[in-house]
Amino acid sequence: MPDQYRVGIIGCGSIANLHMMGYHGVDRVNVIAISDPVAEALRDFGERHQIEKRYTDAREMLDQEKLDIVSVCTWHKLHAPMTIAACARKPKAVLCEKPMATTLGECDEMMIVARRNGVKLAIAHQRRFNPAWTDARSLIAAGAIGQPKHVMASGGQGLLNDCSHLLDMMRYVLSNPTAQWVIGNVERKTDRYERDIRIEDRSAGIIQFDNGTVGMLLQELGPGRQGGTIYGEDGIIDVDERRVRLLSSKTGRWEERPSQGEDASVGQARELVDWIEGKAEHRGEASNGRAAVEIIMAIYESARLHEVVQMPVRTRCSPLDVMVERGDLPVERPGRYDIRAFLLRGEAMTPEGQ
Ligand SMILES: NC(=O)c1ccc[n+]([C@@H]2O[C@H](COP(=O)([O-])OP(=O)(O)OC[C@H]3O[C@@H](n4cnc5c(N)ncnc54)[C@H](O)[C@@H]3O)[C@@H](O)[C@H]2O)c1
Repeated sequence: MPDQYRVGIIGCGSIANLHMMGYHGVDRVNVIAISDPVAEALRDFGERHQIEKRYTDAREMLDQEKLDIVSVCTWHKLHAPMTIAACARKPKAVLCEKPMATTLGECDEMMIVARRNGVKLAIAHQRRFNPAWTDARSLIAAGAIGQPKHVMASGGQGLLNDCSHLLDMMRYVLSNPTAQWVIGNVERKTDRYERDIRIEDRSAGIIQFDNGTVGMLLQELGPGRQGGTIYGEDGIIDVDERRVRLLSSKTGRWEERPSQGEDASVGQARELVDWIEGKAEHRGEASNGRAAVEIIMAIYESARLHEVVQMPVRTRCSPLDVMVERGDLPVERPGRYDIRAFLLRGEAMTPEGQ
């Protein structure tokens, strides 16, 4: 066990600050190097967090620094290539941002490379460490609402962004059931992108989990919130990132339970070290990140094939891309736009620049 864990961060944008905060909250963990091709982003982040070793090329950082932990904080498209590049240098662990990747093929490659290089790979669905979500999970496991029958959530910004968190929330609060089948549909009348990934305007999915619970996900169709509602045989739990509300035959009324506990980013970083040291499995272990992506791909595949998709999904690319490229979803209001264009800082962030 090293005295200090040496951490490197790839991508110095907004979420990297949360990774920084997480590592800062754990003893014996030091962020010693960062990389970003945008000079301004590298300088600002380096100065803000007082990190001397700054690289414009992530692979050079991985080659030069003997890193124990690598955080991948780039846009979704680079999650797979950067995770694979990091794993090839055999750190102890990689913490990659969500969504795990943009296709199931990429998810599988990431998991294979991690396994073959002996690297522990976790995906940063950090809300698994949110005290309210964990409270909801414990209540459900203890039978507070009886057998969970339905779980509902609604978000926006495309399925891969917000909704990957929400699908992960559904599985987390239900103690990680497996999806058995999915039916869904998408609407795409504008040429909509999110962080340079093609997304739909609106979508919905229904998911049958193997514990008997049925999930319902709405994307740009309901009140977007980072939470959900779980209906059981004997009660209801409503959860968001700040609190849990419980109504059951025992409470007889809505009971509000304030969320108290460690910051989710710190919990996520702490459990990574515990995982490395063999003390605990990480609750963001990669198969959970993959499960959220698989449900998303199943919603797209259901829209493409007009059928109930039985899991596992066998299509390895994005069925949304297939539909768009084959002309199955013609845009009625032409003109590409990216709902996260405000994040752009320089041409190095365009796909060609990466
Ligand atoms: N877990 C969460 O709750 C949460 C919240 C926000 C964002 N995210 C995820 O974090 C990721 C990044 O989002 P963001 O909002 O921080 O974006 P951002 O644009 O603020 O930051 C991304 C950074 O990556 C840099 N970059 C681009 N190419 C690079 C390369 N080849 N090597 C190194 N760095 C490179 C960019 O210059 C930029 O500074 C996304 O995948 C997003 O889904 C997760």
